[in-house]
Amino acid sequence: MNPSPERSHDTIRAVLWRGDRLRLLDQRLLPREETYVDCRTSDEVAQAIRDLVVRGAPAIGIAAAWGVVLAARQDRAGLAAALARLRAARPTAVNLMWALDRMQRVAARGADADALAAEAQAIQDEDLAANRRMGELGAALIAPGSGVLTHCNTGSLATAGFGTALGVIRAGVSAERIARVFAGETRPWLQGARLTVWELLRDAIPATLVADAAAAHLMSTGQVQWVVVGADRIAANGDTANKIGTYQLAIAARHHGVKFMVVAPSSTVDMATASGRDIEIELRSPDELFGYAGQRTVVEGASAWNPVFDVTPAALIDAIVTERGVVERPDTARMAAVFGAA
Ligand code: MRU
Repeated sequence: MNPSPERSHDTIRAVLWRGDRLRLLDQRLLPREETYVDCRTSDEVAQAIRDLVVRGAPAIGIAAAWGVVLAARQDRAGLAAALARLRAARPTAVNLMWALDRMQRVAARGADADALAAEAQAIQDEDLAANRRMGELGAALIAPGSGVLTHCNTGSLATAGFGTALGVIRAGVSAERIARVFAGETRPWLQGARLTVWELLRDAIPATLVADAAAAHLMSTGQVQWVVVGADRIAANGDTANKIGTYQLAIAARHHGVKFMVVAPSSTVDMATASGRDIEIELRSPDELFGYAGQRTVVEGASAWNPVFDVTPAALIDAIVTERGVVERPDTARMAAVFGAA
């Protein structure tokens, strides 16, 4: 498979290192505005992660790695505190902790800011390579002419480029295995409607938007053969935390005989976490449910519960695709065979 940007429909980059600052495509404003935010300090990077300027598990890890470089340039003595603030930015995506652990190990060897920058660049480059590999592995599982449903945004916007689940979709469309792409809108933050549809249109991949609530009905019509999603943390037994709504897609898929694929780099696998019960689920402000784009849609005085991830049990997953290989019907033993015991 040719990985050139044109052939692989992959033209967007959301995290750009500019030598003295980190430039982030502001995902709060897409698709209305393509605006970049420049972060010159590690605390600005931590804030950008918290505010969802940059989001998606691998992209959060990459941004945080560059945040460590900025911290090392600012004030080497304050590096440990800066790392702790970056680590606390969001709790569920383990790629954040994984990238910071990796940067911390390099810093502990006494590396200067240039060596830390080389490590951050390696994290970014490896993510892109992993995505292209997962694209090949995941697309190979899909029979020619299939329809797929995806959730949230797992594309170039959420990674170093190409994407995880969206990488499989890019590769599957290029290889003419995927004939139809459906994107769930992904309430309440609308990553699917605002980001995935924009990204796919930008890269000339035809996609059809569906309301989240339309997923089971879509499956019942026979138009999709696979649900393909990303992950924020995969536990040692294969339980997978991903964007809220993923779990109900897996239940509906099993009911309809639709296959369910999780696509994530090994940096998303957390063998130190035994099962999904041990994964912290981020709760965000109820304000995300009370309105959209500054318009209040819910009566004042209402209350709301806003968990932004859920856990899909391994038993509902047909394949976990990583750059190290595919784990079919994941369980603790099959995960350990690829990733080693914790
Ligand atoms: O809250 P977000 O937008 O950061 O959540 C993103 C997701 O849940 C993605 O599916 C996941 O991070 C994988 S991105 C390749």
